Amino acid sequence: MDPYRLPRHAVPSRYDLRLEPDLTTLTFRGEETVALTVAEPTAEIVLNAVELVISEATIENDRGEALRGRASMDEATERCRIDFPSPLAPGAWRLRLTFTGILNDKLRGFYRSSYKDATGAVHLLAATQFEATDARRAFPCWDEPAFKAVFAVTLAIDPALTAVSNTRILDARLEDGRRVISFADTITMSTYLVAFVVGELEATEPVLVGSTAVRVWCVPGKRQLAPFGQEIAAASLRFFEDYYGLPYPGDKLDLLAIPDFAMGAMENLGAITCRETALLVDAGAASHTELERVADVVAHENAHMWFGDLVTMSWWNGIWLNEAFATFMEMLAVDAWKPEWRRWTTFGVSRAAALSVDGLHATRPIEFPVKAPREADAMFDVLTYEKGASVLRMLEQYLGPEVFRDGVRDYLRRHAYANADTGDLWQALGEASRQPIPEVMDGWIFKPGYPLVSARLEGRELVLSQRRFTYLPEPPPGATAPADPGQRWRGPVQLRVNAGGSASAERLLLSDAEARLPLPAGNGAVIVNEGGHGFYRVRYEGELLERLLRRLPELAPIERFNLVNDAWAVAVAGLAPLAEYLDLTARFGDERDRNVWSALLGSFHVLNRIVEPADRPRLAALVRDRAARAFAALGWTARPEEDELTRQLRGDLARVLGTLGDDHAIQDRAAALYAGSADAVDPNVLPALIAVLAHAGDGARYAEFLGRFKSASTPQEEQRYLYALAGFRSRELLGQTLARTINGEIRTQDAPFVTRALLMSVDGRELAWAFVKANWDTMDRQYPKHSLRRMAEGVTGLATPELERDVRAFFTERKIDLGGKALEQFLEQLRVAITLRTREGAALSKYLAGFA
Ligand code: BES
Ligand code: ZN
Repeated sequence: MDPYRLPRHAVPSRYDLRLEPDLTTLTFRGEETVALTVAEPTAEIVLNAVELVISEATIENDRGEALRGRASMDEATERCRIDFPSPLAPGAWRLRLTFTGILNDKLRGFYRSSYKDATGAVHLLAATQFEATDARRAFPCWDEPAFKAVFAVTLAIDPALTAVSNTRILDARLEDGRRVISFADTITMSTYLVAFVVGELEATEPVLVGSTAVRVWCVPGKRQLAPFGQEIAAASLRFFEDYYGLPYPGDKLDLLAIPDFAMGAMENLGAITCRETALLVDAGAASHTELERVADVVAHENAHMWFGDLVTMSWWNGIWLNEAFATFMEMLAVDAWKPEWRRWTTFGVSRAAALSVDGLHATRPIEFPVKAPREADAMFDVLTYEKGASVLRMLEQYLGPEVFRDGVRDYLRRHAYANADTGDLWQALGEASRQPIPEVMDGWIFKPGYPLVSARLEGRELVLSQRRFTYLPEPPPGATAPADPGQRWRGPVQLRVNAGGSASAERLLLSDAEARLPLPAGNGAVIVNEGGHGFYRVRYEGELLERLLRRLPELAPIERFNLVNDAWAVAVAGLAPLAEYLDLTARFGDERDRNVWSALLGSFHVLNRIVEPADRPRLAALVRDRAARAFAALGWTARPEEDELTRQLRGDLARVLGTLGDDHAIQDRAAALYAGSADAVDPNVLPALIAVLAHAGDGARYAEFLGRFKSASTPQEEQRYLYALAGFRSRELLGQTLARTINGEIRTQDAPFVTRALLMSVDGRELAWAFVKANWDTMDRQYPKHSLRRMAEGVTGLATPELERDVRAFFTERKIDLGGKALEQFLEQLRVAITLRTREGAALSKYLAGFA
């Protein structure tokens, strides 16, 4: 018997669930009646439960049979077995369970969260986070996505509080001094989507989308930060109803900002929960990046209401169907809402993150067998989200957006209120497009990695060849089997040839190792992966690269982004000299796209981690040299006619010049601007000023920023000052910040990310690493379960040979498992950085000699 899959001889169809949380004792009492169908005679029922005490178990049917059962818990398998004195006959039964549990502080299951009011008094609320497998911590249940059922939730709460759950309130009455609130039946859905929140909550007025009331909820005093989130919630709901061609499956839509929240947000049907930074924002005072985050998260969770909630993967191996799709739909919806944000160009950054992990030997296919819950947890990574969304975009562009949408509509209609897997999606898309989808797509979904497409000239012919891209020729010792270099992909390759003033497009399906294409006469520039939708890298050989660099303005921003990003990867992989890449970065003085800049600046940050300390001032000079022209053209003050992206670029450049570029003039100006009136500074520049001042700051500045962090009036402001505490350079101050990550001053939802930032910074990394080693067990105990992995990702910044050795030794000796292949990936990424350092260190030093 599989210890991780429940037997199917008893299948639930409905839960009548009553919970009574007590915020003073931090416990809850529960009662449930589960309507079951017993398929074959059995004297035992097995379901999931963990950290619950079950005090009573009875079962009855309509034929008057009633039995008392004995419940026993198995901690290892997170199950509860109920034994009955005699077998239950096949047919319908009602199982009644009474139980108690604890409102924990680990931000999973049914948990407590706290916040301070204006007077500094602490208040508590209770919230839930069930995905992937934590519904079993709140009530005993068949906690697998395929056991869909109807949930009728009743909450008995302190009358001074408010409660929200997945559906509308049917009835609220006072009973024994408690307010007893009954919510309407949910649709037939999976356990991980059930949610309830209890506290002193405030809501906005509803906005109606059709007949659906959309509201934003928050703790008292923050309602003025809700309109922006509510607006994208309504806009994306409208967008999805239209795109999916199906009405919203819930009876209302609430979005709740929870002060302590492990993830970014969670798609509970009708009751989306979010961390505050992902929902509440002062639109007039926030940067583009901060606003985009809210729009992304809200659109993403809304997309799930259909993709995930209405139609759900059968098992966790198919989680990409949920997450890749929601990520893809998030882009479509945000792009439709604010086309001027050019969301698909920014998506290049996400695609690049996926290409980066997927270029490791320790990568994995998007879809991968999953058994235990911790394996399911490890699936929520950049491969599921970003690679998944990238290959969906590639497919959408290949089939055509309408055909693709028709396939999606058909898939949703066919599997509504039920479960589906990847084959079902291929089936629907295949019928809509009349194309052999599995032939094209299976290599992208079920195989790891992606191709490097090399382009070279042979006379008048363009020769394209493919082979798997990896940063390292061999996996690091002790790691997984090496990547198969003979692996080939079938993929649509879009090309454009820009010659003279004209452009011609070509499309071919790459399937063999090599493809040839005659080129028109002349020295036209060949753009492979035109439009930038393909999930592969391109390496231009010889003359082809120079031709492109001469025509940069003719490339779309995403094409320039990919050009930089791929050239950098090719250099890191040792397929081209680093000096060639550094020369290339000098060609972007006229660049005004913030994403292209983020690719350039990202590479400088990596170099900063591997450069010899003595060369660091010269690297700073190179950064100033590269960014100065663009920043000088923009100036410090925004012009009224400028778009939001340009304003954000100004902030990005000011930040990098004042930190990595260590530009004293910028630092002085930042201090002066910061000291002046805050209203005079563009909201895109203010976060940069804070970062720059931290970088150049002393103890007095630290104390000031710490105070600002604690008294911030918006989640974004709080976050800017929090991360600024990791941006100082003095060891003493950074030590203070580290201490605050485990002493309760920084919320456990944020602390791991602060430490991660320190691990990735050259000024903080050694200190942070020593701190992590010394406090690993404390962190493991305090932090929500996904966070340790996210924090540990910071070790990829420990790019000196000594630190690398120490990192490997630590994880090996302590036998630490971060779930899935996470640790192996981090160690390989670290190896990639060290290999670059060893191979190119001397050349880098020589290159930098020209800068001062
Ligand atoms: N379903 C996830 C939340 C989740 C993630 C639950 C991991 C359990 C484990 C949700 O839809 C999600 O993807 N949230 C993202 C934000 C989103 C905008 C990419 C998150 O929490 O980071
Ligand atoms: Zn999601």
